[in-house]
Amino acid sequence: MAVSVSRKRLKSSSRNLAAKQSYFGLTILYNFLSRISALVFLIILIYMWSSFSTLITGNIIHVCFSTRKVNNLYCLSAGTRPSFEMPTSTNNNSSIINPGTDQGNATTEPLKFPDTPYLVTTSSTMDINDTDERVANAVKVVEEQLQVHRSWRSKSNKNYATCDGKGIYVYDLPSKFNKDLMGQCHDMVPWQDFCSYLSNEGLGEPMANLGKGWYKTHQYALELIFHSRVLRHPCRVYDETVAKLFYVPFYGGLDILRWHFKNVSNDVKDSLSLELVKWLERQGPWKRNSGKDHVFVLGKISWDFRRSSESPWGTRLLEFDKMQNPIKLLIERQPWHLNDIGIPHPTNFHPHSDNDIISWQLKIIRSNRKNLVGFAGAARANAEDNTRSTLIHQCTSLGNGKCHFMNCSSVKCDEAESVIKLFVESEFCLQPPGDSPTRKSVFDSLISGCIPVLFDPFTAYYQYPWHLPHDHDKYSVFVDKKEVTQMNVNVVERLANISLRERENMRRYIVYELLPGLVYGDYNAEPDKFEDAFAIAMNNLLERVITLDQPHKD
Ligand SMILES: *[C@@H]1O[C@H](CO)[C@@H](O)[C@H](O)[C@H]1NC(C)=O
Ligand SMILES: *[C@@H]1O[C@H](CO)[C@@H](O)[C@H](O)[C@H]1NC(C)=O
Ligand SMILES: *[C@@H]1O[C@H](CO)[C@@H](O)[C@H](O)[C@H]1NC(C)=O
Ligand SMILES: *[C@@H]1O[C@H](CO)[C@@H](O)[C@H](O)[C@H]1NC(C)=O
Ligand SMILES: *[C@@H]1O[C@H](CO)[C@@H](O)[C@H](O)[C@H]1NC(C)=O
Ligand SMILES: *[C@@H]1O[C@H](CO)[C@@H](O)[C@H](O)[C@H]1NC(C)=O
Ligand SMILES: *[C@@H]1O[C@H](CO)[C@@H](O)[C@H](O)[C@H]1NC(C)=O
Repeated sequence: MAVSVSRKRLKSSSRNLAAKQSYFGLTILYNFLSRISALVFLIILIYMWSSFSTLITGNIIHVCFSTRKVNNLYCLSAGTRPSFEMPTSTNNNSSIINPGTDQGNATTEPLKFPDTPYLVTTSSTMDINDTDERVANAVKVVEEQLQVHRSWRSKSNKNYATCDGKGIYVYDLPSKFNKDLMGQCHDMVPWQDFCSYLSNEGLGEPMANLGKGWYKTHQYALELIFHSRVLRHPCRVYDETVAKLFYVPFYGGLDILRWHFKNVSNDVKDSLSLELVKWLERQGPWKRNSGKDHVFVLGKISWDFRRSSESPWGTRLLEFDKMQNPIKLLIERQPWHLNDIGIPHPTNFHPHSDNDIISWQLKIIRSNRKNLVGFAGAARANAEDNTRSTLIHQCTSLGNGKCHFMNCSSVKCDEAESVIKLFVESEFCLQPPGDSPTRKSVFDSLISGCIPVLFDPFTAYYQYPWHLPHDHDKYSVFVDKKEVTQMNVNVVERLANISLRERENMRRYIVYELLPGLVYGDYNAEPDKFEDAFAIAMNNLLERVITLDQPHKD
């Protein structure tokens, strides 16, 4: 997610910044930069500074998420590993990119999906006073945006009580923008056949052991899942003139995936995105509102669509000028883009009916939680952020069975069954940030009735304004990662201090209030009593585009 922009660009975009030689490089978009104020820019920088781990080596500061998933295959096929280091103030040649340090070879873990290299560099000369203030400002801006998002929430809590004035038009895109990408699934990932994840309209193969409604869903399958649901939405209309909301079923995540392991130029990576924008510009509804009433659902994280000049990673879809107006629903939003809205990562549970939900709720509320704490994860080889290793140490060293560590370096944690089993048997689940701030595991934990313990507010609190409440104490425990790494707070002991009654209250809230709205029903789901994550998103989108309309009317 490297936020990096050449110093020249910074200077031209802001006089204030020009004065600050040391604030170098964020990789947020050109057009974005040229439009946003210096303040916002600094905020982003600070955000990077504050919320991700930083490490200073000589003049290089790393602010990164682990590269565990960028494996040798990627390096071989892409020619070069994306860099994780950039020079800072004492080396002002911004075209220099040092090769990343070796982040671990011959991995013993099964090959995993590569994920974006997240990187931010910033200057070592930033003084602490400034930092505190800017962190506060940065957080304030994020919180304001979330408040705006929450204000867009639909007031009516009954699904599609009426579709009057709420028509949804689903573009029939040329198949190269979606179905043809699915057709490339055999060739998408070298070590596995991605096609099996595309069965059942994106849900994947059923997974019988956990019960009805469980599937081997891929974590990037959301664009498929949404598409098949929206085609069946009761408010779908075929006449664009009566539509309020326009759904663009572009499989942008798959578009990125198919290039991950291939040595292609940036032009190739961006070509389909550019074609899409050209195609949209020829559509009447797009022209009418400049795309403001259009929505995209993208199954990967925002940073994958915001390629910077320093890394070959991803496309620039979300950096295009024309893409700024529409709403983008993503499993991880870029925290300073109002039109990026976070929605839950898809889990493996896709209930068909109210009964599927109710029987799962009963199962997990009655479950015997024999572990106080559960943690499924792997240490990161490049320990810039040692939150994980500290937590693993705390978890495994107690030796009294209070904390159960599932070592994802040696067990296959991407097969959901074992992870869900652990979470259903644990009271609290540790959720340190992984390769990016958000984690699918947070949602695995919530739908298992395991209270998530978060260490970074960007993991969930600043992401999902429609699906998680503002008051995060109701469903989670927060321990600042600095307390863990710098102040020796023992998380397991702290959790043991939380009374049974408090745990029970949180768990009941999670299971009965939140859970139904965090799962995506199956492709022909018939929930009646509950609104699932899809329904919540669609109702709020409709609410949003309808309120957009109002100023024009009066
Ligand atoms: C990638 O493609 C470029 C241009 O065709 C070529 O010069 C380079 O050697 C290739 N890299 C690898 C690792 O194949
Ligand atoms: C930037 O580079 C130039 C030329 O290499 C050098 O003279 C100058 O001192 C550098 N500036 C900083 C702040 O390092
Ligand atoms: C900056 O780095 C590039 C790439 O290493 C090099 O070609 C160029 O000469 C450098 N420029 C300066 C002013 O050091
Ligand atoms: C992995 O790295 C270690 C230490 O850097 C080295 O000793 C070992 O030979 C490497 N293994 C492989 C397979 O490259
Ligand atoms: C901040 O600035 C004040 C005044 O310049 C100084 O006394 C203080 O040491 C600085 N650092 C911090 C962390 O407050
Ligand atoms: C997790 O598994 C890896 C690979 O088997 C091993 O190197 C590591 O020590 C294990 N970690 C713990 C805490 O057991
Ligand atoms: C647990 O609670 C006791 C009593 O209130 C307190 O003394 C102790 O510091 C707490 N431990 C942690 C780790 O919070």
